[in-house]
Amino acid sequence: MADVTITNVKKTYDGKPVLHGIDVTLPDGHFVVIVGPSGCGKSTLLRMIAGLEDITSGEIAIGGTVMNDIEPADRGCAMVFQNYALYPHMTVRQNIAYPLRLAKLPVAEREERVAQAARILNLTDYLDRRPAQLSGGQRQRVAMGRAIVREPEVFLFDEPLSNLDALLRVQMRIEIKRLHKRLNATSIFVTHDQVEAMTLADTLIVMNAGRVEQIGSPAEIYRRPASVFVAGFMGSPAMNLLPATVGADGEVVLDGIAGDIIAQSSLRTGTPLTIGIRPESITLATQPGKGLPVTIDLVEELGGSRVAYYNLSGSELAVVLPPGDEGLEGKTVWLSFPTEALQAFDRVTGKRLDTAFATSVKRAAPLNAEAVRV
Ligand SMILES: Nc1ncnc2c1ncn2[C@@H]1O[C@H](COP(=O)(O)OP(=O)(O)O)[C@@H](O)[C@H]1O
Ligand SMILES: [Mg+2]
Repeated sequence: MADVTITNVKKTYDGKPVLHGIDVTLPDGHFVVIVGPSGCGKSTLLRMIAGLEDITSGEIAIGGTVMNDIEPADRGCAMVFQNYALYPHMTVRQNIAYPLRLAKLPVAEREERVAQAARILNLTDYLDRRPAQLSGGQRQRVAMGRAIVREPEVFLFDEPLSNLDALLRVQMRIEIKRLHKRLNATSIFVTHDQVEAMTLADTLIVMNAGRVEQIGSPAEIYRRPASVFVAGFMGSPAMNLLPATVGADGEVVLDGIAGDIIAQSSLRTGTPLTIGIRPESITLATQPGKGLPVTIDLVEELGGSRVAYYNLSGSELAVVLPPGDEGLEGKTVWLSFPTEALQAFDRVTGKRLDTAFATSVKRAAPLNAEAVRV
């Protein structure tokens, strides 16, 4: 087992920078997930750790040893790819044993390790089949078997579940987590899927456009996103992000909804903000009272919950409905934004502002419905 230290790592393809200086330490034995939109540089970073891609500048160390000039096979890493990369003409047994054959391990030890990996992955009955005779999930398990038999210090996963259908993806996610608990090797898992990221990670690294936006536990990142990007990317339905401005006395007013103060702040008058609030944090009343009166456009049924949508001055506002409120489409409801659930971001830099709100908030008189119609 080993920790992985990445120090000011940059990558340039044909003069074009793709990674702008990555600095992270991935603790020994952790399950680290790197999440970010397609093209942000996740695979490039993973491939540099594995040694499949040159490092333009900076340093990558595994277990304290700098790996920049070490051959991929000697780095103690095993990688699992999205497309499985199995040899079609080989049986499951031969596929799993392949890296051991390359390493010229004695036949008896090879067989022992393959049998053990097959037991862990429930592949014992399939060892004589070829990949074409397996389901997608089984093929991915063979690819994992091939990684396990190498007994690596570090497992590297590049979107290994993306080719599976939704149900199988959830099952395999659980299997991978179990496997990690059992083997306890440092694991680095790359995905663009934020649900996969939240559920698998001990440590989550959110990337955007070749930079690390935030590092933390899934709960920390969900509760206290460091930027508008992270706030909007992590969570489903996504966090509501609404433009707002600080008024003359520090009051925060959503743009386009003049007069309704949602919080009192100590920020400078005129500061342009983005206010974030999770769809499950907005409270809703079906009777007139305090709060913002809105007419719900659309209700999305998710089985266990329902999400209502409302177009608030050009921003889509999502609200998770409390159980039991059927038939709200087209109805007027009154929304309140609890101060403790509000997040503030600088609208220019996108960065989180931590001292924005006073704890006690005086709400202005409720608006009349006409004022908020778009
Ligand atoms: N071999 C390559 N040559 C040139 N550009 C590349 C190469 N590989 C990746 N890129 C570019 O680098 C960026 C990051 O790619 P990648 O690491 O594959 O992103 P991700 O895995 O996050 O989707 C993208 O803009 C991609 O087009
Ligand atoms: Mg990729």
